Formats: sequence, C-alpha cells, structure tokens
Amino acid sequence: MKLAILGGSFNPVHNGHLHLAEMVHTVFSYDRILLIPAYRSPFKLGAESPSPRDRIDMLLASASGIPWLGIDDCEIRREGVSFTIDTIDYIYERYRPDTKLGLILGDDLAVNFTQWRRASEIAEKTDIIVARRIMPEKNDFPYPYLDLNNELLGISSNMIRELIQSRSAWRFLVPAGVRRIIEGRRLYGCKEDAPEGCDSPVGEGAARCGTEAAEPSAGSPSWETIARIEDEARMSLSQARFLHSRNTALLCWDLCGRYGLDRRAGYLAGIAHDICKSCSEDELVTLALADGQRMSKLEKKKPSLLHGRAAAVLLQQRFGIYNTDILEAVRLHTIGSVDMGDIGKVVYIADKIEVSRRNVDPALRDLCSGAGLEELLAAVLDSTVAYLRSQAADISYGTRRLLAAMQKKKNHHSP
Ligand SMILES: [Fe+2]
Ligand SMILES: [Fe+2]
Repeated sequence: MKLAILGGSFNPVHNGHLHLAEMVHTVFSYDRILLIPAYRSPFKLGAESPSPRDRIDMLLASASGIPWLGIDDCEIRREGVSFTIDTIDYIYERYRPDTKLGLILGDDLAVNFTQWRRASEIAEKTDIIVARRIMPEKNDFPYPYLDLNNELLGISSNMIRELIQSRSAWRFLVPAGVRRIIEGRRLYGCKEDAPEGCDSPVGEGAARCGTEAAEPSAGSPSWETIARIEDEARMSLSQARFLHSRNTALLCWDLCGRYGLDRRAGYLAGIAHDICKSCSEDELVTLALADGQRMSKLEKKKPSLLHGRAAAVLLQQRFGIYNTDILEAVRLHTIGSVDMGDIGKVVYIADKIEVSRRNVDPALRDLCSGAGLEELLAAVLDSTVAYLRSQAADISYGTRRLLAAMQKKKNHHSP
C-alpha cells in the first residue's frame, strides 16, 4: 500500500483539495491519499472555526464513493496543537504502509517548513511532495522533494468562507455533499438555501426519506449506487460508527484487489455492513425476519446481533441489491459462517482489524500485505474468539463452527 497524507484545517474542504489529492494519486501512483484534519493548526490558533465534527462530516461527504481517498481523525482525537511528526509516527504504526509515506505540502506551508517541529526527521521519514497553492513558480525548498507541478486553481477555504458571508456565489466550489452540510447546518454564516438550479437542498437525514427502490441488480454495483448507499450510511450512523464503516470498506477494497475479487462489491459490503446499527431493537427484528429465517437463541437474547441480517434486507428492499456475495457478506459479518464466500471472509476480516479499531495486534494488520485469505481469516478468527473468551462473552454457534472448521483445516495441512 503506497500512502500519502494531506493535512490541513479543511475549513471547509473544497474542490481544490480534492483536485490536489487526485493529482498525487494519479501522477505519483499513490494507492490512497489520507486527508487529516488538524484539531488546530499551529499557524492558525484562534481562527474562527466550525466544530471539528462539522469539518470531519464535510470531509466524509466529499469522499463518498471514492476508494482512493481516506479520512483520519487522529489529530482531532489527540486534541491540542497538532504536530506533523506525531501524525507521521501514528500513520506508520497504524497503517503499516509498505513504502515510504508521501507528505503533501502546499507551497504556502513549504515556505515555513524549516520551523516545523523536527523538520529534518519529517524529511527523512517521508517523501515530500510540494504542490502549488499560491505561488506560480517553483520555490526553494531545503530538502529533497517531488514537484507536483499542478495548475493553480485559485480556490481557498478562506475565499469560500468570505463568499458565503457576503452572499456571493460559492456553491460549485465544493462537492455537493459539503454544500448540503454548510446549508443544512448554517455554517460560516450561511443564511440561505440553494437558489433554483442547484439540486434540492436536502437537510441531514432527508436522503433517508427519498428512497424509492432502485433497479434490482445482481451484478457488480455501480459507483452511483455505492455513493447513494454510502450517503445513507453517513446520515444514519454516528460519526465514529461511519468512520469505522468507511475504513472497513477501504480495507475490503484493498483486500479484494489483493485476492482478485470484485472490489466494488467488497467496498459496498464494507460500507453497508453496519448500516442498521442505529436501528431500534424492534426495527432490527422486523427487518431481519423479512429474510425468512428464524431467530437463534443468541439473537433473541441479544437482538443487536441482528444488525447484519437487517442490513442485508435493507440493501435488497431499499437499494435493489441482489448480488448474493454482497448480501451474504453483510448478513454474516458479525458471527461468520463455514459457508461464507470469499467476499464474506474479506468483510469479516476488515470489520475486525480496520485502522480505527483499537487494540488490534499490529501483526494481524501486517498479515494483510502478505498472507493468503484463509491464513488471514484464521488469524483474525483466533484473535476474535480469544477476545470474546477474555470477556466471558457468548460465542455464537456459527462462530464456533467456523473456528472448528478452520482448526480442522489447519491440522490437516500441518506436517
Ligand atoms: Fe457489525
Ligand atoms: Fe462493523
């Protein structure tokens, strides 16, 4: 995995940021660009800002259906002044990239780079990519770097904030999802809904109501369908839960690529696997029973376990997804099953070890870049069962059967 990071206030994120990220992704072949919002930039202390939660929501909205774009909230969780070197160390520890990390710097920040905390160490640990933000010409930079040589787009967050405040045109400088959040939450002094000609200014949650059933599809999902389902998940889940879902989807994307599986199917199953997590127990039972199966003893005792089954029904009924690999993966992600197909295995694994999960053994994440699918599944399953046992938690029949089958396979193959 070749990874580059782009930090900033993203106040708000705009099309210039996304254009820059896409250029680095394509020009230098980075698999993923991580956007990392600062809790507070050391150079912008005291700047008026919407809440960190608003800024993350806008970033998540801008990344909908884009598998090469990741969002990490590590600096906001750390709070206080953010230093890039701390973030770099965290990214290496958590993401385990197998090449040197790329660090994207706008030329506006590159000018003061030598004043950054442990600047030489940053330059050693990363491949610095300098992008043009304000200066038309190359500037002198005291460390080795890659020149992105991008066009100056002339869009800045500052400019967008001023345009909003002065009631001038700003809406097409940001992705549509970001515009809806700014309008819906009245950020930056925004007082009006979109004028005619923009699409309808749906507020938060409105997408949940406008959900006429889509064309049934049993094939690989389109990006349009994926983005619709991703938007639904983003609006119905807590921010932390949605970040988990998105990171699960990204890891599914990576693993499906590694194992030669349908990447879009994997991404969709990952983004949707917890889409019913915020439903009430009654809603879960009603949705889940629509699959025609009975409830197990454990599901009766703990209805939250039905959220996978409920999500599979929702995908079918509301979004017209009939791809059995996706539906099965979503349905079985919590407990696993001996009958799981390869995409089911990928989703089971990704759900347990994606980057925002805490207390994951780094060795498990390292296996993602070398081990076969069965080996990785066995390791993740062992670790999950060991954790459940340490908590004296019930282990479902499906999980126990899967564990026994994996152990039998292992014994069969050992000399
Ligand atoms: Fe789940
Ligand atoms: Fe999950």
